[in-house]
Amino acid sequence: MNNTIHRPPSTVHRLFDVYPLFDIEPVRGEGCYVYDAEGVRYLDFYGGHAVISVGHSHPYYVSKISEQLQKISFYSNSVQNSLQVELAHKLTELSGCQDYRLFLCNSGAEANENALKLASFVTGKTKIISFKKGFHGRTSAAVNVTDSNKIKAPINTTFPAEIHEWNNIDTVAASLAQDDVCAVIIEGIQGIGGIHVPEKAFLEQVEKLCTQHGAILILDEVQSGYGRSGHFFGFQHADIEADIISMAKGMANGFPIGGILIHEKHEAKYGMLGSTFGGNHLACAAGIAVLDILKNENLMEYSAKLGAYFIEKLKAIPQIKEVRGRGLMIGIDMGEPIKSLREKLLYRDKIFTGSSSDPNTIRLLPPLNITKNEVDYFIEKFTVA
Ligand SMILES: Cc1ncc(COP(=O)(O)O)c(C=O)c1O
Repeated sequence: MNNTIHRPPSTVHRLFDVYPLFDIEPVRGEGCYVYDAEGVRYLDFYGGHAVISVGHSHPYYVSKISEQLQKISFYSNSVQNSLQVELAHKLTELSGCQDYRLFLCNSGAEANENALKLASFVTGKTKIISFKKGFHGRTSAAVNVTDSNKIKAPINTTFPAEIHEWNNIDTVAASLAQDDVCAVIIEGIQGIGGIHVPEKAFLEQVEKLCTQHGAILILDEVQSGYGRSGHFFGFQHADIEADIISMAKGMANGFPIGGILIHEKHEAKYGMLGSTFGGNHLACAAGIAVLDILKNENLMEYSAKLGAYFIEKLKAIPQIKEVRGRGLMIGIDMGEPIKSLREKLLYRDKIFTGSSSDPNTIRLLPPLNITKNEVDYFIEKFTVA
C-alpha cells in the first residue's frame, strides 16, 4: 500500500501546509465516481465533505454554469440580480420555508458568522449557547462556538460562548433563564462530531425556551441541509421554526456559496450584512441548477428511502457497534479506531469515506443520486474489510 505524499518540491515550499493529504489526485468526476490521471476509478461515499449533492459533473449543472459564464459571471450587489431572486424563490419553495428571506455569502463559516452577527444585532446581547462535538466553522465568531479549543486563536474568544451537553435540556434551560443569551446555535444533525441526530423533543424544547427568553434559534444546516437527511433541512423531522437557518456545502455542488434564511419577523436594514462575492451570477446559476435537480430527480424522497435501506444493511453487520444518521448522512461507529479500515477501503477497494472528530466513527456523505448498486457494493467491500 503506497500512501506517502509525493509533491514536487516547488509545491511543498509554496503551499501553506495545513492539510494532511491522501496520495490521490482526482482529475475528473462523473456521478458518484472520481478518476485519477491514470483512469483509476474511485467510488465517492464522502462527496468531498458532503459538498457533492447532485453528483460530479451533472450534465444539467454543467450546462447551467457554462451558459451563465457566456453571459455574465459577476457584478456587484449594487445592481439588480434576478438570479438571486430566482434562487431565493426556488429555495424557499422546495424547503417549505416561505416565511424566510435569503442572504447570500460564500461558505459555511461565513453563513454562521452572519447568523451570529444578525442575532446580536436583533437582541443586543453577546452570549451564545452551542453544543459538545459541534462544529460551526473556522472564522471569528463561528469558531468561538465550535467545540474544539485547538482551532481557536486568542483573537477568536472575544464573547461568552457556553458549550452544553447534546440532548440535555436542563443546563440549556438554566442558562436561558438568565435572560442574557443572544442565540442558541445547533446543527440539524451533527456532522463532524460523528453524526448525531438531536432528539425531536430536545429541539422542540430548545425552540420553546428560546422564544420564552428572547434568544435567537440558529439551525446550522451547512452539512445536514439540502436534502441529505431525507428532509430539505435536517431539523425538519422536528416540529420547530428556527429564526435563522445557515447553509452551504450541498448548495451548489462544489461551487463556493453559502447563505442564511432569516425568518421574516426579523427586519432587514441596509448595510446590516454584506459581501462582495456573495450571490454572484455564477454561484446563483450553480445554486439554481442544484435546486432544479433536487426537485426534478426527487432526491429528497430518494435519499430518505435509499438511506433507510443502507442503514438497515449496515445495522446487520455484526462488527459495527452503532449506526447513526438519517437519509444519506450516516455515521458508522466501529467501537475502535477506523483509520486503517478507511485506508483499506480507499487504497484496496477504491472507495472514499470520511472521518470525524470521533476516532471510531466513519462518516458517509455520498452524492444524493448514488444508486442501490453502489450501496450494495459498499456493503460487500465493507463486510470483508
Ligand atoms: C455544520 C457545519 N457548519 C459550518 C461548517 C463550515 O463550513 P465551511 O468549511 O464552508 O466554512 C461546516 C464545515 O464542515 C460544518 O460541517
